Amino acid sequence: MTEPRWWQEAVFYQVYPRSFARDLAGIRRRLDHLQWLGVGAIWICPFYPSPQADFGYDVADYTDVDPEFGTLDDFDGLVGDAHARGIRVIVDWVPNHTSDQHPWFVESRSSRESAKRDWYVWRDSRAGGPPNNWRAAFGGRAWTFDAATSQWYLHLFLPQQPDVNWRNPELAAAMHGVLRFWLDRGVDGFRIDVVQGIAKPPDLPDDPPGTVLPRASFNDHPDAHPILRHLRTLVDAYPQEPVMVGEVYLLSTEQVADYLGRGDELHLSFDFTSLYAPWDAAAWRTVVERVERELGAIGAWPTWTLSNHDNPRHRTRYGGGEARARAAAVLLLTLRGTPFLYQGEELGLQDAVVPPEQEVDPGGRDPCRAPIPWDGSPAHGWEHEEEWLPWPPDADVANPEVERADPGSMLNLYQRALAARRASPALRRGSARVLPSPAGVLAYERVAADGGDRRVVLVNFAAQRACVDLDGDWTVEVATDRAWEGAPFDGELEADAALVLRP
Ligand code: NOJ
Repeated sequence: MTEPRWWQEAVFYQVYPRSFARDLAGIRRRLDHLQWLGVGAIWICPFYPSPQADFGYDVADYTDVDPEFGTLDDFDGLVGDAHARGIRVIVDWVPNHTSDQHPWFVESRSSRESAKRDWYVWRDSRAGGPPNNWRAAFGGRAWTFDAATSQWYLHLFLPQQPDVNWRNPELAAAMHGVLRFWLDRGVDGFRIDVVQGIAKPPDLPDDPPGTVLPRASFNDHPDAHPILRHLRTLVDAYPQEPVMVGEVYLLSTEQVADYLGRGDELHLSFDFTSLYAPWDAAAWRTVVERVERELGAIGAWPTWTLSNHDNPRHRTRYGGGEARARAAAVLLLTLRGTPFLYQGEELGLQDAVVPPEQEVDPGGRDPCRAPIPWDGSPAHGWEHEEEWLPWPPDADVANPEVERADPGSMLNLYQRALAARRASPALRRGSARVLPSPAGVLAYERVAADGGDRRVVLVNFAAQRACVDLDGDWTVEVATDRAWEGAPFDGELEADAALVLRP
């Protein structure tokens, strides 16, 4: 068996800088929290110079830091401190589009003869209108007419986010230079934005009427694969074993698995079927079995994620209060694969209520992006009592200061589950097998390759107590209620409870 890679064993933690601690220096000051929690890597969302039309996913310079977030020196300091604490750092790379303020686009739009014209996707009108019927992700058409040169440019997202043309070798080379820039600075890899959209079909066909994202014809074109293979060769040449984790927004495990290639494309690929699964044992059983089947067949490594900066937080989505969010934490941290935590879920945060006059995001995603309350004071460890978005509910108590002091808190549950995972080869990298269980319960067994380490995980999705029959004697190692830990498992599983059992 090959040695596991660091990115298979680490738990990742997603940092959305503006809401985590304002800037890179702020993130650096909060590394204590992450180290105590026990995460192995952080993914930092975009901090590059940007007009912030899409909060950093409109990049105006890939190789610098927006003054709002600090300087390259701050970045180097953050990476150095994180590494000193055993925490790897991956950065967000946005290869599908730039900002319309990026010098590449400014030059491209300057004239039809521009040397960079072909770095973006420009087309003539069709019958006096846009070149095709594609729709943009946040609504409206995916084309904007540029009166100065009488052509349209493509943007799958906002008009301020023109799509680049990966079929142009100079653009591809410039993008490769971006990756080298950050790898040379010591980053441990990239979270890659909108992977499924980077290669458009050359003839840009109309979408059939009624097309719903992500099924549009601009997604999932086979020409993305050679692009990814090239990237893989580039990053694999670096000694730090960088990881590429792709946002492959296709909502199908089969399709997502394609982007892992034969171990020669992405190392990891987000599979949002888990994020969109309802809180239901049968639905989760289907997801877990499908992931085991599809990724197992190609020897690939799964990822698991319940929340991110683009979707309502899972605690809010699932309803059912803190009890359910606790069970979800045990599930997320014990499945076979690499878990990605979204900042604040370890505190049990819910979405903030954002009044219309405070809305800032064109995609309606403000509630999950509320700032992290660090303590119970009026400004919650920030500079102002009012930050860029309202605080999440219960910020007086749902914060690291209060929760660290409370052994029964959500934060302490995450910390214990992470520690149990680090200590157990079965949980870190063992096989996974779904076990028979009563309705409403998901049960699975994790076994290390040499058979020496085993765990059983029980998750009760239902609001009723369940009885679970297991062969042998088992002890509760981690539980949604700390009081049960260390006791023998007696066959009863409380409503909304989840347990990690050891022999
Ligand atoms: C996915 C990112 O997660 C999201 O925040 C962004 O708006 C789009 N890609 C466009 O870059």
